Amino acid sequence: PAGDPAKGANVFKKCMACHAIGEGAKNKVGPELNGIVDRKMGAIEGFNYSDTLKEHNAKGDTWTVEVLDKYLENPKAYLPGIKMVFAGLPKETDRLDLIAYLSTFNAD
Ligand code: HEM
Repeated sequence: PAGDPAKGANVFKKCMACHAIGEGAKNKVGPELNGIVDRKMGAIEGFNYSDTLKEHNAKGDTWTVEVLDKYLENPKAYLPGIKMVFAGLPKETDRLDLIAYLSTFNAD
């Protein structure tokens, strides 16, 4: 049940105020998201993460497709203490399309 990356590019507009992705992406309010699928949680050097993400980083946890899907549905419910101000994506198709889009960007 893979999503449609072209539709996911449109969903990503909801993230762009705070996140960049693609060649030369820099941290903004949130960390850059290149290679985020299967990236270690809280791993971008120089980004000031919440204690929540620092703890997951210390445990070696990663942003699998499944974890991303649950997180993006309702960020604060899934990761209490997260400092990302985003209500979430209630529609599963939006999340799957978005994750398919995110998967097209490798870590730089
Ligand atoms: C963190 C995705 C929307 C601000 C993160 C992380 C992911 C993510 C995967 C963890 C990154 C890591 O561990 O390195 C997304 C997606 C969004 C979205 C896909 C849209 C659907 C937003 C928006 C904002 C925001 C709109 C700002 C209003 C942040 C911040 C963090 C973060 C500040 C760091 C959280 C912390 O340290 O607790 N985001 N985000 N994000 N995001 Fe978002």
